[in-house]
Amino acid sequence: MLSLRNKRIWVAGHQGLVGQALARALPATGASVLTVPRSELDLRNQQATRHWLQQHNPDMVIVAAATVGGIGDNQVRPADFLYDNLMIEANIIHEAAQLGVEKLLFLGSSCIYPREAAQPIAPAALLSGPLEPTNEAYALAKIAGVRLVQSYARQYGCRFITAMPCNLYGPGDRFDLARSHVIPALILKMHQARLRQQAQLELWGTGQPLREFLYVDDLAAACLRLLQIYEGDAPVNIGSSLEISIAALAKQVAVTVGYQGAISFNPAHPDGTPRKILDSTVMRGLGWQPSVPLGQGLALTYEWFCNHQAEARLVA
Ligand SMILES: NC(=O)c1ccc[n+]([C@@H]2O[C@H](COP(=O)([O-])OP(=O)(O)OC[C@H]3O[C@@H](n4cnc5c(N)ncnc54)[C@H](OP(=O)(O)O)[C@@H]3O)[C@@H](O)[C@H]2O)c1
Repeated sequence: MLSLRNKRIWVAGHQGLVGQALARALPATGASVLTVPRSELDLRNQQATRHWLQQHNPDMVIVAAATVGGIGDNQVRPADFLYDNLMIEANIIHEAAQLGVEKLLFLGSSCIYPREAAQPIAPAALLSGPLEPTNEAYALAKIAGVRLVQSYARQYGCRFITAMPCNLYGPGDRFDLARSHVIPALILKMHQARLRQQAQLELWGTGQPLREFLYVDDLAAACLRLLQIYEGDAPVNIGSSLEISIAALAKQVAVTVGYQGAISFNPAHPDGTPRKILDSTVMRGLGWQPSVPLGQGLALTYEWFCNHQAEARLVA
């Protein structure tokens, strides 16, 4: 087991949902967290990324910086999703290899598996079929990242690994109706509907897709475990192994937020992949399991949102 004690670990993207959770979790391992705000380092810039890495010389790197968003955002900005993510991951992975960092963890995503992959989805399903069209640009970039990690490990012996989380949520998320994922979007819409005493709320899609959600602090714990004990070539899936339909999720969010109006679905908008649940057998075998159930996680997220609206990247 690789000890993280006294390691200097750079969390790239520390201001994001995952990055904040990693920065919360790392100090308990004895590691120190290196960070740099986006305003000081644009990770799409290779020279600036190289310069920052050479100056700060981290022992380990976690790549949690990315251009990330929901279905609508993916459809409107495919060029940004493809270009930004290719540049960010190529710059960090290449420069970390040049510098000889001891270990690197890259964050992939369950979105990058084929649309019709057999469920629960095993890592071997990667590149076995056509991608979900609504997030193809993002998926292509992330697949390139997974392959970069594997290639630097194979060619140069780098201890670089990939984690593939399911849908995440929690404190620090982006509450932006144009850009956010389903849970923060539902929380924001229902919070506003409650304040406006709206009798009716329309949501995108049919409500029927099945999704798997994980509280972000559980993901952070899994990532630290991987840094400590995982050396394999295959990406490691990280999920709660619990499925819920978007319609049932909407009802649970309504209860959490206290919205009592009617909820309807508009099937004219896309659903995305019909079903997406990960086979997280390998991660469970490494001694990790989630600790925050969905109801508790939603309550903690809503509490954070109510208390931190200035930091919630809120755009209604
Ligand atoms: N959220 C999920 O449900 C989920 C699920 C599976 C996998 N993941 C993966 O987890 C990782 C983190 O996701 P997240 O949800 O934490 O996303 P996030 O909240 O959007 O955080 C990403 C962070 O990266 C920063 N960033 C983006 N472009 C940058 C650039 N060019 N230079 C410097 N910083 C930049 C962002 O800054 P700004 O805030 O200024 O844009 C943000 O702080 C991603 O790789 C994602 O694919 C997320």
